[in-house]
Amino acid sequence: MSSVTLDHVYKRFGNAKGVEDVHIHIESGEFFTFLGPSGCGKTTTLRMIAGFYFPTEGQIRFGSQEVTALPPHKRNTGMVFQNYALFPHMTVFENIAFGLQVRKINKTDTKERALRIMKLVRLEGYGDRRIDQLSGGQQQRVALARALVIEPQILLLDEPLSNLDAKLREETRFEIKRLQLELGITTIYVTHDQAEAMSMSDRIMVMQSGEVQQIGTPHEIYHHPVNRFVASFIGETNLWEGTVVGIEGDEVKVRIASGHVLSGLKQNASPRARLTEGETITMSIRPESVQESTVTEGANVVSGSVEMSEFTGACVNYTTMVGQEQLRSMSINLGRPVKQRGDSIGLHIPKESIYFAG
Ligand SMILES: Nc1ncnc2c1ncn2[C@@H]1O[C@H](COP(=O)(O)OP(=O)(O)O)[C@@H](O)[C@H]1O
Ligand SMILES: [Mg+2]
Repeated sequence: MSSVTLDHVYKRFGNAKGVEDVHIHIESGEFFTFLGPSGCGKTTTLRMIAGFYFPTEGQIRFGSQEVTALPPHKRNTGMVFQNYALFPHMTVFENIAFGLQVRKINKTDTKERALRIMKLVRLEGYGDRRIDQLSGGQQQRVALARALVIEPQILLLDEPLSNLDAKLREETRFEIKRLQLELGITTIYVTHDQAEAMSMSDRIMVMQSGEVQQIGTPHEIYHHPVNRFVASFIGETNLWEGTVVGIEGDEVKVRIASGHVLSGLKQNASPRARLTEGETITMSIRPESVQESTVTEGANVVSGSVEMSEFTGACVNYTTMVGQEQLRSMSINLGRPVKQRGDSIGLHIPKESIYFAG
C-alpha cells in the first residue's frame, strides 16, 4: 500500500494539451476515481502514474519515493487496461502467471500465488481455458487477477467495466469494491460513468479538457459542485439563472425569470466572495429535491404547466414549464394520481436544496 502524489503534473503532446496542473494527494488504501467525459485526460494521467508516459512537468511520488522517471516495471503498480490486453493464445493460468515469471518467481510459488488469486476473483477451475473461450465478464476477472497477482502497491483500473453489459457492470462494480476493501489496496479508477464513480469511490477528481474541476467525496461533489460543468455532469440537475434581490443575514433571495422568488440560498454556499444585490447567479436544484405541492403559491413554491410526466412504478417524474424555464422533478410514487401534460402543478423547492453553481 502506498500513497500517491501528483505534484503540479503537466503532459503535453507536441503542442496539444494532454493534462494541465494535476495536483493531488491520494491516501494509502484510498479508492480514488478520475471522472470526466472522453478526451478529458483520465487515461493520460493514469499512464503517467503507471510509467507508460512521463510528465512534461511536475513530479510523481509513491509515499516519499519519487517515481517520475521510473519505467513501469520498476513501479510495482498493477494495471487493468480498458481492452484488458490479455494474451489470447495463452490459458487463464498462463496469463495470470506471466507477471510472476517475468519477475523470476520460482515455479512452486508462482503456482501457489496464481491459484490463490484465481480463487479471490472467482476463477477457480478455469486455469486451463483459453482466453477466447471465456465470456466478457470472465476475461475482465482474468485482467484483474493478472494485475493483482504481482501484489502491487497500487492498483490502476482504466474503465474496467466498459466492455460489459449493464447488469454485469453492476455486479462487477460490487466485486471490485469488495476486493479493494479486502486487500486494502490503494486504487485509482478511471471512468466516464458518474454512477460508477459515485457508488465506489472514497473521493473523485472531476476533469474536463485536461483540467481538474473539483476533487471531493461523492457527497461533496454532488451537493456542492463548484461550477456548472460539475453540477450537470454529476447526476441530473436543474440549472436556473436568477437575480439576487435581497440578502437577509446569511440567506439570499433570488428572483427567477418567471417572477417567482426563491429564498434560502445560503450566502456561504458561494465559493466566490459574498453575493451582492442585483447580480446574476446560477443555481443548481436537484430533481429529487423538488416535490409536488398541494398548493400553487407559497414560500419557495413555483407553479407551472406539466410538459411531460413519466410513471416508472417506483417514481413519478415531471418536466414542468415554469414561465419559459423547464423544471425537472422526481418523486417517490406515493399512490397519488399522476398529472398529465397540460395540467397545472405547484412544486416546492426546499431552501436547503438550492445550491450556488456559478
Ligand atoms: N499519445 C498521444 N498523442 C497525442 N495526443 C494524445 C495522446 N494520448 C492522449 N492524447 C490526447 O490527450 C487528451 C486526453 O486523452 P485521454 O487521456 O486519452 O482522455 P480520456 O482517457 O479522458 O478519454 C486527448 O485530447 C487526446 O487526444
Ligand atoms: Mg481513456
